[in-house]
Amino acid sequence: MATVFCSFTSTIILIISLSLLPIICFSQPSNPSVCNGILISYLYNSGYALPPTLLPADPTHQGYRFESTLTVTNNGLVELKNWRVFVGFNNSEFLVSASEAVLADGTSLPADVRNGTVFAGYPVADLKTAVETAGDVNQMQARVGLVGTQFGVGAPNVPLPPNITLANDGYLCPNPTTQGNETRVCCLPDSNVRSNITGEEKIVPLQNGDLTIMYDVIRSYESNYLAQVTISNHNPFTRLDNWNLNWDWMEHEFINSMRGARPKVIDTRNCIFGSQGNYYKGFEFSTVLSCEKRPTIIDLPLERTNDTALGMIPFCCRNGTILPPSMDLSKSKSAFQIEVYKMPPDLNKTQLTPPQNWKINSTVGLDYQCGPPARVNPTLFPDPSGLPSDSVAIASWQVVCNITRPESKKPKCCVSFSSFFNESVIPCNTCACGCDTTTNPSNVCSATEPPLLLPAESLLVPFENRTEKALEFAKLKRRDIPNPLPCGDNCGVSINWHVLSDYKDGWTARMTLFNWGESDIVDWFSAVELDKAVPGFEAVYSFAGNPLTDANNTIFFAGSPGHNYLVAERNGSNPRKDPRVPGTEQSVISFTKKKTPGINVARGDGFPTKVYFNGEECSLPTVLPSNAHRIAAASSVFSSLTLMLILIVLQQ
Ligand SMILES: *[C@@H]1O[C@H](CO)[C@@H](O)[C@H](O)[C@H]1NC(C)=O
Ligand SMILES: *[C@@H]1O[C@H](CO)[C@@H](O)[C@H](O)[C@H]1NC(C)=O
Ligand SMILES: *[C@@H]1O[C@H](CO)[C@@H](O)[C@H](O)[C@H]1NC(C)=O
Ligand SMILES: *[C@@H]1O[C@H](CO)[C@@H](O)[C@H](O)[C@H]1NC(C)=O
Ligand SMILES: *[C@@H]1O[C@H](CO)[C@@H](O)[C@H](O)[C@H]1NC(C)=O
Ligand SMILES: *[C@@H]1O[C@H](CO)[C@@H](O)[C@H](O)[C@H]1NC(C)=O
Ligand SMILES: *[C@@H]1O[C@H](CO)[C@@H](O)[C@H](O)[C@H]1NC(C)=O
Ligand SMILES: *[C@@H]1O[C@H](CO)[C@@H](O)[C@H](O)[C@H]1NC(C)=O
Ligand SMILES: *[C@@H]1O[C@H](CO)[C@@H](O)[C@H](O)[C@H]1NC(C)=O
Ligand SMILES: *[C@@H]1O[C@H](CO)[C@@H](O)[C@H](O)[C@H]1NC(C)=O
Ligand SMILES: *[C@@H]1O[C@H](CO)[C@@H](O)[C@H](O)[C@H]1NC(C)=O
Ligand SMILES: *[C@@H]1O[C@H](CO)[C@@H](O)[C@H](O)[C@H]1NC(C)=O
Repeated sequence: MATVFCSFTSTIILIISLSLLPIICFSQPSNPSVCNGILISYLYNSGYALPPTLLPADPTHQGYRFESTLTVTNNGLVELKNWRVFVGFNNSEFLVSASEAVLADGTSLPADVRNGTVFAGYPVADLKTAVETAGDVNQMQARVGLVGTQFGVGAPNVPLPPNITLANDGYLCPNPTTQGNETRVCCLPDSNVRSNITGEEKIVPLQNGDLTIMYDVIRSYESNYLAQVTISNHNPFTRLDNWNLNWDWMEHEFINSMRGARPKVIDTRNCIFGSQGNYYKGFEFSTVLSCEKRPTIIDLPLERTNDTALGMIPFCCRNGTILPPSMDLSKSKSAFQIEVYKMPPDLNKTQLTPPQNWKINSTVGLDYQCGPPARVNPTLFPDPSGLPSDSVAIASWQVVCNITRPESKKPKCCVSFSSFFNESVIPCNTCACGCDTTTNPSNVCSATEPPLLLPAESLLVPFENRTEKALEFAKLKRRDIPNPLPCGDNCGVSINWHVLSDYKDGWTARMTLFNWGESDIVDWFSAVELDKAVPGFEAVYSFAGNPLTDANNTIFFAGSPGHNYLVAERNGSNPRKDPRVPGTEQSVISFTKKKTPGINVARGDGFPTKVYFNGEECSLPTVLPSNAHRIAAASSVFSSLTLMLILIVLQQ
């Protein structure tokens, strides 16, 4: 390091700092080929055009095979835990295999990586330093062999990703430099980030996320081990129903037995015909549960909770339902145990590899993206017999899953607004939960026209039977009637938010849930965001309800005992004459104005800005009931009272 590069504006500083120079400028050597941080290199080795041959007519869609090597080398002084490297592929790459690494978003290969992807080390996730290993490159470096297909460019040209960066926190990467077949970047620790992780620690701290999954090995033998898997929901608004959990076994393991959950398919073919059958000669494979490389695991029904053979695991057997912790902490977890058999060369008590590429889904239409398992401090388990001693897991890994909101998905619920000061109800938005015009082309309706305002009593009538009343009401109010008429909301659940009263010291609202679907909704919950009103929350009468502690503008509601069932739509009392009736639940909520001075309930502060039902965000009307003329107030109090009466009668 003869000529160290540092830019100084004055020689005085230079002289003063001379003695400090080697330290200050240590990580920025003048020779650009020296990297004293994390060196990432992407080398394009070879490739060729693949059939079908589209050249020369259609060069942009011509496919090419590519083989490349991604190398990550730790030349720094601190061990790099759980390395992650982003490779910004941009030639419509389809990755077929990657040695020594997995995709950090949990996707199994082959996978579409056209938007770039993050790689994580597997089976070795940590890169040691030269100091720790006396320069053993095998421990300081990860070499990932990549094979895939790319489009539009390939040999003899050299397609290189325009962007490669280290995705670990606490490092800064400049733009990569390209030379011949290689692009490389040297990432240096960000001096502004003080990391607690020292070279000595072997373990990363637990991370937060919407959902976390622990993989705790609680017993280990030469050829098999027992692992406990615990899924915990941390998101206050969301739930899972009928969860499905997937992962990839990386070392040909198979599941011999299980408690608290089941594989969706019991399939032992891979064992009997595969290497496992060959190795475990004479093993009773007929009772083995799953030999799939990527099993799907589902929960057991409630009745199995106390089944001595299949259940008896705390937090097991929830029929696939995991509630938000804000609703019931004891039901916000699901746990099960698996007995895993290993294959050579892993037949050693200490040789434990967690499965990779985790994915969890549920019928609540949210997508979760799960990272790779990270080794964490062994979990402490309370003694099952109640003795005041804890047992420690042999090894623990944590998988963190965050919700990714699919933009294209339509809501499943919608909200209508009404108030004592205006007799027109603002119904749910047209097509709030989607409109499928293909299924019923004869029934022409407009998907863009705003909905017709309704009289209060027609909220209880299914959309297809409302039209007559809505039209009468429009005529009475001398409103224009569009042609074609607006389509319905098509939501399985709708929620009416009614501002019931507004006086000097306080105000009240009434929330009514309608189930228009074919099945009962058990253990429902809803979260209502009111930007200004929540500090004034006083009481809710028929539901359980409380402001969320970690969000000061949201009230969380759930059915109290007797109100936790939102029954399905059913026939009217006289099916020939009466339309079908939705299941309903209703409660009044009261607020004081003492803690929210200046609140203007009618002008909007009394109406929610966001509503969630069972974990999904609902569609909200775009307009609020107008309070321009309060003359109709008396009659609307009357009509809302009728609605209340109707509902009370219906609930009997
Ligand atoms: C660089 O890529 C070309 C193909 O485009 C290949 O022929 C050559 O062997 C590669 N060089 C190295 C050093 O891998
Ligand atoms: C990929 O990135 C390079 C460099 O930024 C750019 O020149 C090229 O057009 C991009 N290719 C595609 C298909 O986006
Ligand atoms: C890539 O990004 C585009 C635009 O953001 C998105 O529409 C597309 O679904 C992405 N593709 C994949 C495979 O993630
Ligand atoms: C490279 O990708 C990373 C991660 O997606 C991004 O933060 C960064 O801005 C990109 N750099 C460039 C030069 O595009
Ligand atoms: C770093 O470690 C110290 C002492 O162990 C602890 O107090 C502090 O909270 C840690 N900081 C972070 C960001 O983890
Ligand atoms: C998941 O979300 C948590 C908290 O919002 C965040 O700290 C974490 O970085 C996220 N993890 C991933 C893999 O996106
Ligand atoms: C299981 O046993 C516990 C304790 O004996 C009991 O409280 C619980 O109701 C039982 N659960 C089922 C589903 O039978
Ligand atoms: C368990 O889930 C299944 C599938 O969704 C459902 O049909 C069944 O009614 C549920 N059982 C109980 C007891 O909730
Ligand atoms: C198991 O692994 C440990 C540590 O890697 C090693 O010391 C031991 O000899 C191995 N045992 C067997 C039976 O291979
Ligand atoms: C969840 O994943 C399983 C297995 O991958 C799949 O069979 C199922 O259709 C998925 N369910 C939903 C609701 O996406
Ligand atoms: C609510 O929290 C936000 C930030 O969390 C804060 O800015 C706001 O002042 C709080 N409002 C009240 C009424 O406490
Ligand atoms: C309600 O609408 C449905 C579907 O259009 C129709 O079959 C039914 O007869 C209507 N019921 C009444 C009471 O009008």
